[in-house]
Amino acid sequence: MFFVKDAERSLRFYTETLGFSLDWKYEEQGRAFVLQVSLLGFELILNQTPQTEDRAGHGRVFIGLEDDQVGRFRGHIREKAIKTRESQVMLVLRFAHVFFGALWVGMMAFQTFFLMPALAEAGPDGGKLLAALMRRRIPVILPIVALITLVSGFWLFQRLSGGAAEGLLRTPMGLAFGSGGAAALLAFLLGIVVMRPAMMRSAALGASLPSASPEERAKISAELQRLRARGAMTGWVVMILLLYALGAMAVARYL
Ligand code: HEM
Repeated sequence: MFFVKDAERSLRFYTETLGFSLDWKYEEQGRAFVLQVSLLGFELILNQTPQTEDRAGHGRVFIGLEDDQVGRFRGHIREKAIKTRESQVMLVLRFAHVFFGALWVGMMAFQTFFLMPALAEAGPDGGKLLAALMRRRIPVILPIVALITLVSGFWLFQRLSGGAAEGLLRTPMGLAFGSGGAAALLAFLLGIVVMRPAMMRSAALGASLPSASPEERAKISAELQRLRARGAMTGWVVMILLLYALGAMAVARYL
């Protein structure tokens, strides 16, 4: 039941704007004071009385939608051209999430598929390029981009689930967002724990190469080779996880 200020006005809003139908109404002196409207099986009583005047705008309803009702409900909203509003927080979260998610996957794909093989091919000269990249703060910027994607993603998931994450995970859409999110989180951890230190150490070793003695050089080169192989291998795993996350996010809404 909802308490309302003007039952006649509410009736017009529910029937003309939202497309409810009137089930019954109780009138006094030609004006409705208690009435029931319904839509798709959902029944709502609207009540205006002098005793409840100060409670207008208050009331409580419980709405539960079964899976097969969601489509009909959305169709009704579209058909009646009912204006709906997303909150500003959602807008900012979605923007940050998709924008930084695209940057994260794009930067990692470029790094894994093009930059790393090119660096390996360039041999000792590759060290200079790596040092130049370090000066541009790649090891700081990339984790920040990833963190913004992760935090906004988990926040969006929490909002989407309305606090019932387990319930959302039981739907195909929720499972896709959830498993994609878990893959992205794992990719981030691998990047921080394995890839980032390997890249930093490679850059430091590469910088020490020109001033090293010949026997040190051989050792450093072998170490560089080992680090690059480890970096490349982890890079592929991270990339597979990120591509899975991207793919799952892309189709989740339509599952
Ligand atoms: C590689 C990282 C990620 C990328 C590239 C990415 C990409 C995207 C894209 C493109 C969308 C829009 C999909 C649509 O509107 O149909 C989206 C939505 C979403 N993502 Fe991610 N995502 C990433 C990580 C995550 C993580 C870690 C989570 C945490 C669970 C997450 C949860 C979500 C949720 C819940 C939505 C739906 C938002 C809504 O209600 O509109 N994402 N993501």
